[in-house]
Amino acid sequence: MLETQTITRVYPNTWPAAPSSSGRQGVLSLSGAPAKYQEGALTIQPVFQSEYSSFGAEVYGVDWSRPVSDATAKQLIALQNKYAVLVFRETGLDDERHIAFTQQLGKDLEINPFFYGRENDRIGNPFLWDVSNINLDGTIVQPNSRRWHHSRGNALWHTDSSFHQPRAKYSLLLSHGSPARGGSWTHFADTRRAYADLPEERKAALENLVIEHDLWHSRRLGSPETFREPLPHERARVPPAYHKLVQTAPDGRKTLYLAAHAKQVVGWDFEKSQKLIWELIDWCTQPQYVFSMEWLAGGDLVWWDNRQSMHRANPYTEGMTARDVRRSTVNDDGPLACGVPKSELGIEDEVEAKAE
Ligand SMILES: [Fe+2]
Repeated sequence: MLETQTITRVYPNTWPAAPSSSGRQGVLSLSGAPAKYQEGALTIQPVFQSEYSSFGAEVYGVDWSRPVSDATAKQLIALQNKYAVLVFRETGLDDERHIAFTQQLGKDLEINPFFYGRENDRIGNPFLWDVSNINLDGTIVQPNSRRWHHSRGNALWHTDSSFHQPRAKYSLLLSHGSPARGGSWTHFADTRRAYADLPEERKAALENLVIEHDLWHSRRLGSPETFREPLPHERARVPPAYHKLVQTAPDGRKTLYLAAHAKQVVGWDFEKSQKLIWELIDWCTQPQYVFSMEWLAGGDLVWWDNRQSMHRANPYTEGMTARDVRRSTVNDDGPLACGVPKSELGIEDEVEAKAE
């Protein structure tokens, strides 16, 4: 088997080295990025926009002090389909209103598979994923704990829950309290524009590939020793799923559905699969497709579409301060939500066996 160390990319803590040319704080924008524009009560500041691409936008003008109207939610979904990542500053939302807004975007919210009951969960809500660096007792996650190693997989480029059936459509990550000292960033990559820029013959070669997505693969890439084998209850809670690599995004453009969870191309061996998967992840995460969002204040909210983007966190560091971020997730309810059934692939056991 290919050694995971040889295929894992190492992404250190990164952030824009200097303010962008526009002097704006919070996002890394292209020089010449368009000025903000008004759409009804909303002000929209795109991050990347050209005649070929729209990716990322900061949105102002939502009144978060009261329930978001259905008309505004509809307007925001249209913006989401276009930009794939929307950033809202200082919303003032709490857990309840975070969940209420998420439910306006889709009826079926993902239940955190690691929710073991309110008494054992810092947040105490099965609709919220605690992606903070804070333990149940309020202490900061320590190096070499299982949770520390689990988080290392989140610092690899991924889409959320591509291994889940149904997969995730939207993720909404909300900050509580002050951001971590020294800057706190989440990075996003535009898989639609990256696909569009591939040579035509490459597109044709990728068109019909199906990929096995496995949470425990990305955990092993992030921390090969700790996650060489998941614990039995971990494996049972999160089995793999199978999805087409080339898909159509909500805005009608084709996109690559990729993640560090992507373990194997169905019908290919593990080594060849990983070579292709990481070539494509590297392709999608070139600077011209990536922007970095800085967490500036408590209440900052970022909402992204997992079906047409990838993202990654900065890895944990020794001496980090508390970073309290909580994620709600809307399950995909579209025709591609559960991917390709194993029965259609006909090689379910073979895929598993080859990978080990
Ligand atoms: Fe994530």
